[in-house]
Amino acid sequence: MKKALITGITGQDGSFLTEILIAKGYEVHGIIRRASNFNTDRIEHLMGNKQLRLHHGDLSDSANLNKLISTIKPDEVYNLGAQSHVAVSFEVPEYTAQVDAMGTLRILDAVINHYPEARFYQASTSELYGLVQEIPQKETTPFYPRSPYGVAKLYGFWITKNFRESYGLFACNGILFNHESERRGKTFVTRKVTVGLSEILHGIKKESLKMGNLDAKRDWGYAKEYCEAMWMMLQHSSAEDFVIATGRTYTIRDFIERSARYCDWEIVWEGEGVNEKGIDKKSGRVIIEIDPRYFRPAEVELLVGDASKAKKELGWEAKIDLDELIDIMMKHDMKDASYKKVLQLSDNS
Ligand code: NAP
Ligand code: GDD
Repeated sequence: MKKALITGITGQDGSFLTEILIAKGYEVHGIIRRASNFNTDRIEHLMGNKQLRLHHGDLSDSANLNKLISTIKPDEVYNLGAQSHVAVSFEVPEYTAQVDAMGTLRILDAVINHYPEARFYQASTSELYGLVQEIPQKETTPFYPRSPYGVAKLYGFWITKNFRESYGLFACNGILFNHESERRGKTFVTRKVTVGLSEILHGIKKESLKMGNLDAKRDWGYAKEYCEAMWMMLQHSSAEDFVIATGRTYTIRDFIERSARYCDWEIVWEGEGVNEKGIDKKSGRVIIEIDPRYFRPAEVELLVGDASKAKKELGWEAKIDLDELIDIMMKHDMKDASYKKVLQLSDNS
């Protein structure tokens, strides 16, 4: 039985990748962080599965990583653990560098010292392109990160490539563009919108949803499909870097308008800058307002990826489009909101 080790197993991608690897017959080892409360919600449904083993650990702890690699001897290592929030990285830049940059070095070092036969996947990102130098972005597009997160991930990218070139490690960077799902963290823009609108519609959230820059453009795909691509990279005949994207880009404004249709709202925009409001045309209700707290010190205005290398060499391409993604997320979050409403009503009765 093949063995895989996943850092960040409790995150969005970690949970999908675990399902994929278990279905393929792997023994999956996952690193979880000790927290004062349960942080395993996304893999709760897999607890008790004999193919799943969890270990405490942290990307800031080399001793722990060395011990895990030397005892597990995994065939494949997926380094998904990260402080993954771009806006938060401006508040905790040093910590972000410790985990996202140095953490990558620590786990690579543990692999090369204790089990260099392992194949290594690094969760690289379209944030590396930042202030984009080319449209669309592909594997050869120069990088220009725009946040402490992007800069830390740039180190992660290069140190992965360096271990491949220096020591012959089978190490790949997946340069994944934004990917979302019903498991996406609720402070990322898509999930903030799908949860926020669902809660406003059900009367759980009384006030409008406060947003930042509505004009940024993102290439959004479905997380589950992107996790399949991670596995495909490690099965390839040679270790290479791949862009994973849909090739289509939309503004945050588009995402809000499309999601609002689930609530039977047609959003019209009035006002400008921080005074802009998204209003439901029929009822006149203000659904969206701008709060400058959500603006970033430096913004990534446009991302759109060209995944033709992945299509040609891996046979991977995105199948779920934006409306299908919104459908998955809105259905999930509307159901959640209606449960919450029922609970609220029964509490009050
Ligand atoms: P996520 O939901 O935020 O999950 C991040 C995971 O990293 C969580 O399991 C988290 O643990 C863990 N983690 C955080 N700090 C850690 C530390 N110090 N040591 C060990 N683990 C730590 O992120 P995601 O969306 O699944 O993304 C997975 C990876 O892909 C990340 O590296 C992210 O930067 C990268 N990426 C994501 C996207 C995207 O659009 N989703 C695109 C490109 C690249 P807790 O659960 O305990 O917090
Ligand atoms: N989070 C958030 N909250 N973003 C907002 C908001 C808001 O209220 N309003 C507007 N935005 C804009 C941000 O300014 C940004 O331009 C865009 O929405 C997307 O923000 P996020 O969803 O937070 O994602 P991200 O693109 O910054 O980063 C995600 O994708 C990267 C890949 O490109 C994360 O998953 C990173 O970990 C990942 O590497």
